[in-house]
Amino acid sequence: MIDYTLVDWGFVLAALGALLLIAYRRPRKGLPLPPGPKGLPLIGNALDIPMTNGRTVFREMSAKYGDVMYLNALGQPMIVLGSHEAAVDLLEKRGSNYSDRMSFVMSELCDMNWVLTMQHYGPYWRKHRRALHEFLNPTVLDNYRADSRRDAHRFILNLMEEPHRLLHHSRGVFGAMIMRISYGIELTERNWKYVDIAEAGIHAFTHALVPGKYLVESFPVLRRLPAWAPGAGFKREARAWRKDVRRALEEAWDETMEKHARGAAPRSLATVLHERAALLPDPAENAAEEEVAKNASAVTYAAGADTTISTVQWFFFAMAAHPEAQARAQAELDAVVGPGRLPEVEDQAELPYVNALLKECLRFRSVVPLGIPHRSLEDDEYRGYLIPKGSMIIANIWCVAFSRDPEVYPDPEAFRPERFLKNGRLNPEVRDPAAIAFGYGRRVCPGKAFAERSLFSIVSTALHTLSISARIGEDGKPVPMAGEMTEGVLSYPEPFDCVIKPRSSATERLVRASCGAHA
Ligand code: HEM
Ligand SMILES: *[C@@H]1O[C@H](CO)[C@@H](O)[C@H](O)[C@H]1NC(C)=O
Ligand SMILES: *[C@@H]1O[C@H](CO)[C@@H](O)[C@H](O)[C@H]1NC(C)=O
Repeated sequence: MIDYTLVDWGFVLAALGALLLIAYRRPRKGLPLPPGPKGLPLIGNALDIPMTNGRTVFREMSAKYGDVMYLNALGQPMIVLGSHEAAVDLLEKRGSNYSDRMSFVMSELCDMNWVLTMQHYGPYWRKHRRALHEFLNPTVLDNYRADSRRDAHRFILNLMEEPHRLLHHSRGVFGAMIMRISYGIELTERNWKYVDIAEAGIHAFTHALVPGKYLVESFPVLRRLPAWAPGAGFKREARAWRKDVRRALEEAWDETMEKHARGAAPRSLATVLHERAALLPDPAENAAEEEVAKNASAVTYAAGADTTISTVQWFFFAMAAHPEAQARAQAELDAVVGPGRLPEVEDQAELPYVNALLKECLRFRSVVPLGIPHRSLEDDEYRGYLIPKGSMIIANIWCVAFSRDPEVYPDPEAFRPERFLKNGRLNPEVRDPAAIAFGYGRRVCPGKAFAERSLFSIVSTALHTLSISARIGEDGKPVPMAGEMTEGVLSYPEPFDCVIKPRSSATERLVRASCGAHA
């Protein structure tokens, strides 16, 4: 939604701001800036920067100007990367200069700066990363295995019983896994509010931080507008979001600390970090570490409980739209796992097609289509161009994974797991979409291993036990499935219909037996 009253304000201020900037801008080091649309006097590329559908607009612009493109967003230098190579060269190989984040006025107004994703590169950020790594690295994931397996089976049983509540149960399964890791809280229908809280927090994040959406980011002076003033819609939005963000930070933490004080809290990220902080003799250090514990627990839970579900939704979408891929995966599962049991983590290496199918789910739609922008810390030279210090660096993940490079992913629009296989095995020469979908360099998603592991467990179990198909319309034909993505920093499928049934009474019995339910 564009706030039109803001626009006239914006133009007056833009003119003033741009005049200052023009006086300010001198060529540095004699290097040219990367190519990009020419832009207008005074406001630069302000009108080229998409407020919606950024991934496609940027993709088209990259096709024209190249995979390292420069835009001037009302004085803010912006670099859009449209290829994996450029993203690796800058964000990974030169990570020490490309791992900062932008400051967003909206993030401050929504009181979101505690979120790791927003933190500037530095010691606080590093502490948070370390805390998350300790609980989400590939080795510790084995500790959660029995619980996660149970969650996955329960998810399938829920779907067999309530097939129309796919979204609800997808939230539930990741919510359960991540609430347990973060706080040791067992998710049930009774404390479902925690899923809603995470979702509301993520909603604020995904709508408050769209680059170019809020003029106040370019003209921080606008934040002085009183909330009732015309054009101050952003303030009213921020005020509502702030409440949601606060609840995500506090409610589960307070419950856990209250239980911990009674000696009734199971071990979790929150309790371990809290206990460790309590051992510090210096009260100031103790308080600082306690804050890290609280903030890190909340980010794991908010970021973990509501992102992975997007990929699971896309998986169900793809299976309903591509019955041939589903059938091939099921044939592989029948051969490797057989009808007598459910798939396990150990089976993963023997299931190349299922692995390929999951990779294709991560490739053909993006959870974070434009990634989370990085910020550069120094002037730099790349391919003969100047990348100015303080640039906002956007890696267009969707473009890179999808179709920028048809050499890597031929026929990119098609859902084709076979693209990852050669002679019946995973082909290591085809780029793994997980190397793109989770971002780049030092800021790469710390939940990657957890997400990949839990997605495999859910996808393989679902394929083995369920039959997923498109809804049949009144004309007797499958209802066409559009596969539109929602707008925002994080993206989900637009609501879609699919039919979910047990694959056979035998698979239903296996799932029921595993969940301890009655046949
Ligand atoms: C399919 C699921 C997921 C996808 C596709 C995904 C993708 C991403 C991407 C693209 C970034 C930005 C990386 C960059 O700046 O280059 C990111 C950051 C992050 N992700 Fe994920 N993520 C997923 C699941 C998770 C989970 C399960 C968790 C937590 C348990 C998580 C926690 C985070 C955090 C805390 C950051 C910020 C890291 C930082 O700024 O240093 N994500 N994720
Ligand atoms: C970061 O920038 C500084 C200053 O321009 C430079 O000396 C250093 O080599 C750069 N580091 C990397 C990893 O590119
Ligand atoms: C934790 O979050 C609080 C509340 O937003 C913030 O004031 C504090 O600076 C954060 N601390 C750390 C270490 O992230």
